[in-house]
Amino acid sequence: GKVRAPTHIISTISDDRGEEPCYAGVPMSSIIEQGYGVGDVISLLWFKRSLPRYCTKFIEICIMLCADHGPCVSGAHNTIVTARAGKDLVSSLVSGLLTIGPRFGGAIDDAARYFKDACDRSLTPYEFVEGMKKKGIRVPGIGHRIKSRDNRDKRVELLQKFARSNFPAVKYMEYAVQVETYTLSKANNLVLNVDGAIGSLFLDLLAGSGMFTKQEIDEIVQIGYLNGLFVLARSIGLIGHTFDQKRLKQPLYRHPWEDVLYTK
Ligand code: ACO
Ligand code: LMR
Repeated sequence: GKVRAPTHIISTISDDRGEEPCYAGVPMSSIIEQGYGVGDVISLLWFKRSLPRYCTKFIEICIMLCADHGPCVSGAHNTIVTARAGKDLVSSLVSGLLTIGPRFGGAIDDAARYFKDACDRSLTPYEFVEGMKKKGIRVPGIGHRIKSRDNRDKRVELLQKFARSNFPAVKYMEYAVQVETYTLSKANNLVLNVDGAIGSLFLDLLAGSGMFTKQEIDEIVQIGYLNGLFVLARSIGLIGHTFDQKRLKQPLYRHPWEDVLYTK
C-alpha cells in the first residue's frame, strides 16, 4: 500500500487546497452566498461547527460591544503612545493588545472557569466569594474602575437582555448576578463587569445550544477560548486609535512630570 511520510503539522479548521478555501468544511462560496456573518465564521474557525443564529448573533454582539471603550483604558493608551512614537499599525495594535490580561479584558476565561466551578458545586455566593478571598484571588468578572451600582455598565445590561430573550436557559448568568448581589453588598464598584457577563453567558450558550458535549465544554473552558472574543473585538478599536493619532499628526508623547510622584 501507500506509505505516507509523517507530517510536521496537523490542522483541522481550514483547507485551501481545493478550488476555494473551506472553513470547517464549508466552502467560501456557501459562506458568502448563504449570507453568513462574522459570528458564523468565528463559529466555524474556533468551534469547528455552525452554531444556531442566536449564538452567532450573541458572538457578534460581544464583538460590537467590546470593540472600544474610549482612549483612557490600558489598551488604547498603549496603542496611542505607540502610534505617537511613530510606529507602524501592527506595532501600535500589538502594544495595546499586550495589556489585555487578568485585570483588563482578559478575565473572561477565568470568570467562566470560576463561575462554572462554583455554580456546578452549588456554592452559595457567600461561600464562593469568601472562599476566593481566603485564597487571595480577586473574583474574575467582578469589579470595575469606573462602573458601579449607580453607574451600571450598559454593555452588561444589553448582553443580559439579549440572553434572557434568546437563550433557552441562563443558569450561569443568574449565578453571576447572585454573586454580584453579594459583592455589591461589600463595595459599590464590585459590579459584574463585561468580562464576567460574557464569561457566564458563554457558559449558558455552550450548555444551552445542544451543540457541545460536556467534555467539549470543559475543554473550551480549560483551553480558554473566550478571551479571544475581547482580543478580536478590541483590535477593531485599537486599529481605529492608531489611524486617529496618525490622522491628527500627533507628536511623540511624553508624560508630564507633574503627574508623577517622585519619591524615595
Ligand atoms: N473580587 C474581590 N475583591 C475585589 C475585586 C474582585 N474582582 N475587585 C476589587 N476588589 C476589592 C479589592 O481587593 C480592594 O480591596 P482591598 O483594597 O482591601 O484589597 C477593593 O475592592 C478596591 O479594589 P481596587 O484595586 O481599588 O479596584 P480597581 O478599581 O483598581 O480594580 C479591577 C478594578 C482591576 C477591574 C478589579 O476589580 C479586578 O481585578 N477585577 C477582577 C478582574 C476583572 O474582572 N477584570 C476585567 C475588568 S472589565 C474589562 O477590563 C473590560
Ligand atoms: C473596557 O472595556 O476597556 C473597560 O471596561 C475597561 C475600563 O476601565 O473602562
